[in-house]
Amino acid sequence: MSHNAAPAGAEVRAAAARIVARVLVDRISADDALEGETSVHLRDRSLLGALVFGALRWHHRLEWQTARLLTKPLKRDQEELGALLRIGLLQLQELRVPPHAAVSATVDAAALLELRSAAGLVNAVLRRFQRERAKLESDIQTVPEARFSHAAWLINALRNDWPDDWTRILDGNNAAAPMWLRVNLRRTTRAAYLETLSAAGIAAEAAPDIATAVRLAAPQPVESLPGFSAGQVSVQDICAQRAAPLLELAAGQRVLDACAAPGGKTGHILEACADLAEVWAVDRDGERLARVADNLRRLELTARLVTGDATAPARWWDGRPFDRILLDAPCSAVGVIRRHPDIKVLRRPEDVDGAVALQAKLLRALWPLLAPGGLLVYATCTVLRRENGDQMTAFSGAEPTIAAAETWQNLPGEAEGDGFYYAGLRKPHALPTASVPPQP
Ligand SMILES: C[S@@+](CC[C@H](N)C(=O)[O-])C[C@H]1O[C@@H](n2cnc3c(N)ncnc32)[C@H](O)[C@@H]1O
Repeated sequence: MSHNAAPAGAEVRAAAARIVARVLVDRISADDALEGETSVHLRDRSLLGALVFGALRWHHRLEWQTARLLTKPLKRDQEELGALLRIGLLQLQELRVPPHAAVSATVDAAALLELRSAAGLVNAVLRRFQRERAKLESDIQTVPEARFSHAAWLINALRNDWPDDWTRILDGNNAAAPMWLRVNLRRTTRAAYLETLSAAGIAAEAAPDIATAVRLAAPQPVESLPGFSAGQVSVQDICAQRAAPLLELAAGQRVLDACAAPGGKTGHILEACADLAEVWAVDRDGERLARVADNLRRLELTARLVTGDATAPARWWDGRPFDRILLDAPCSAVGVIRRHPDIKVLRRPEDVDGAVALQAKLLRALWPLLAPGGLLVYATCTVLRRENGDQMTAFSGAEPTIAAAETWQNLPGEAEGDGFYYAGLRKPHALPTASVPPQP
């Protein structure tokens, strides 16, 4: 069917179903899947995003509802049809689309997807939902996977780690995240930038405790932010903006940002202190490291960019110790689900095991690069204790040269920030004699 002949709204729903199915089948991120979908008209891009991210955010609930509404389960190869049904149900519950328009456009999308004889099924499921909605919604409360719209393993892990806060965390993961900006204090002041925003008709307010952070009243496309292309401001969650202040940066220091891409924190480190001796930004992923270069170019700042494995510094380190190390470790990212709901369907329990092992390896490999009297800040965007407090306890227990450790945890949505963890590990100026190996 040509673009013009497609019924209104059907194409965008068909595209959303294809994208959601790709995320699930090919196990790629929603952003990557969206990038590959070029068929949707510009005017429908925001609806496309709402359908895709909504279907992923509410995946587990919508899947449970679909199973209740179908008389026989879908087959494994009917992923696009399953996605389309969930997108239909999403519109009837979460989006402000008139129900009759949502049903007819979703039924028409089945034909566009060439799902043989599925239009009748889509119509029947959505109409049945409308009739049985009250009962389905009350039954949701009795099934945690449907109530919180998370996988059972993740609900259990969060309940285990946070017996008093787990429902708050799960609800926080399902809420919309505000857009935070980091003002480049080397270029302007926060007060001046707030005035610029106000003159542009963009409502915003300053965060009380982080000097660079500004919260927009409503998200904006970055191109519409005054001074963005000139590097006056970057988009960064308020909790990610804690890394640079925690590093206690001062003139003359050598700084290593060990897992740096895409460079949000590298930029902040360079903005925060004009007279650092050197900043190294290391990442093992060359393509992602290119994004660090792009970000720094926009900010007109420079760092030494190294494509390298931070678990094997012998391959890239020059042997001179660093005064500060930021280890923004690869993690399960369970603290940023509200911004990346695809994590709910992509993450598996074994991924957490892998992340825990890699974090431990990174800590062991990087600690020797820290100068006596230096500070290593370990950061994750997760709330799972295995990756945070337990990881620190294990590392401190095995490493006698840690003088002190301070930790900080934000839960998703708390103080309007993402779920983030930081630990600051200090190396004493004089190493304890016990750590010196006996001479032969
Ligand atoms: C949480 S992200 C870093 C985000 C970044 N610090 C920022 O603020 O924009 C983790 C990064 O670690 C990188 N990474 C994973 N394993 C690594 C390794 N062994 N050595 C170096 N980088 C690694 C990933 O490629 C990813 O870019």
